[in-house]
Amino acid sequence: MQTIIEPFRIKSVEPLRHTTREEREQYLEKAGYNLFLLKAEDILIDLLTDSGTSAMSTEQWAAMMRGDESYAGSRSFFRLKKVVQQLTGFQHVIPAHQGRAAERILFTVMCKPGMTVPNNTHFDTTRANIEFTGARAVDLPLPAAADTQARLDFKGDIDTQALERLIEGAGADLIPLVMVTVTNNSGGGQPVSMHNLEMVRDITYRLGIPFYLDACRFAENAWFIQQRERGYQDWSPRQIAQKMFSMADGCTFSAKKDAFANIGGLLCTNDDRLAEQEKNLLILTEGFPTYGGLAGRDLEAIASGLEEVLEPDYLRYRIASTGYLGRHIADHGVPIVEPPGGHAIYIDAGRMLPHIPRNQFPGQALAVELYRHAAIRSVEIGSVMFGENARHELLRLAIPRRVYTQSHIDYVVEAILEVNERKQKIRGFEIVEQPRFLRHFSARFRPIR
Ligand SMILES: Cc1ncc(COP(=O)(O)O)c(C=O)c1O
Repeated sequence: MQTIIEPFRIKSVEPLRHTTREEREQYLEKAGYNLFLLKAEDILIDLLTDSGTSAMSTEQWAAMMRGDESYAGSRSFFRLKKVVQQLTGFQHVIPAHQGRAAERILFTVMCKPGMTVPNNTHFDTTRANIEFTGARAVDLPLPAAADTQARLDFKGDIDTQALERLIEGAGADLIPLVMVTVTNNSGGGQPVSMHNLEMVRDITYRLGIPFYLDACRFAENAWFIQQRERGYQDWSPRQIAQKMFSMADGCTFSAKKDAFANIGGLLCTNDDRLAEQEKNLLILTEGFPTYGGLAGRDLEAIASGLEEVLEPDYLRYRIASTGYLGRHIADHGVPIVEPPGGHAIYIDAGRMLPHIPRNQFPGQALAVELYRHAAIRSVEIGSVMFGENARHELLRLAIPRRVYTQSHIDYVVEAILEVNERKQKIRGFEIVEQPRFLRHFSARFRPIR
């Protein structure tokens, strides 16, 4: 059979509410044209993020009922630890309430002012947590990845030549760790090859620098390796993921992505001394090391999710459905970041709306228009989010895991193509109110008439 179906059936449903265009116009005005400030109930298809928005399985819900809520030594923790150790090989498994909490603890222990942390592309919380310690966060994407239209198999790779130059310039003593984010979220959800991970492992091993994975979407990355990298066709996604983790000395992980959990994170390492320091810090703000800010039932949901996510049927469907959205809009003239990534499709709004200058936020204008037209929520990833540092003006359509069916995605395709038909009429925005930090969450805008 050629048709790839959702490899699950639906037992519990959550009704969606339709709204009228007039109602949406009012909601937009009230929210200052910032989609973060809309009420979720006023949205039909929510593609704001794939983080914490997954549908859990019957196994996960059943496991949650078995959650052991003991303050210390919970059975659920030991189950999670075993699952994570079997997958990653890391000795120390430290739970945290989400990925950024793991990042804060890791960087607080490892970074000092004057140090530099390289990454293929830092996620915004990763960068913020590094900079908060006084260290510098440097992105080293492949130069070829700057072209949104370039179709590279592993467009998420780190530039290893630039990495070597950076380490030589700064001195290995001032590089507390090297990170690689799989898949490369801020770089378009693009995968990183095993070959690239091997090169980073070799460089860091030679220079005695710890190598960490930001492993949020490790399973999607493993699938791309199986499909695209020579020599891995006969490997299972689990074997590939195990090899990916074996390259590194530790990882941070947001369980809100490839563990299908609604909350949770992990910090893993093989370094006993580091783990001790991390656990001491964990107790201050997250909790005892056998729960780290999570309920026992959350630990169970993560453990079950980690077992499910490497199922080939799931990964085949997941990557095919993201590609389905990407191809159906790109092949009809909507410029996307090519090729489609794992968890999201990124429309190149700067290219689609050349009549809107950067300082009038083409990505934001497109996000607003898509909501106004079809009640779809997406997110600007461009000058609103990154200010002067934005490399592109993108609109991200992130796909929650196991939540929407193909007809939902067909609806999204139809809406985007209709908006594209009359794109000349879309106008830009100016900011009328903004906070000092992370302005994309709460800035208010005014349409330019
Ligand atoms: C690559 C990457 N790293 C880290 C994080 C932070 O994880 P969390 O949202 O659980 O704090 C995210 C979240 O989207 C991410 O995509």
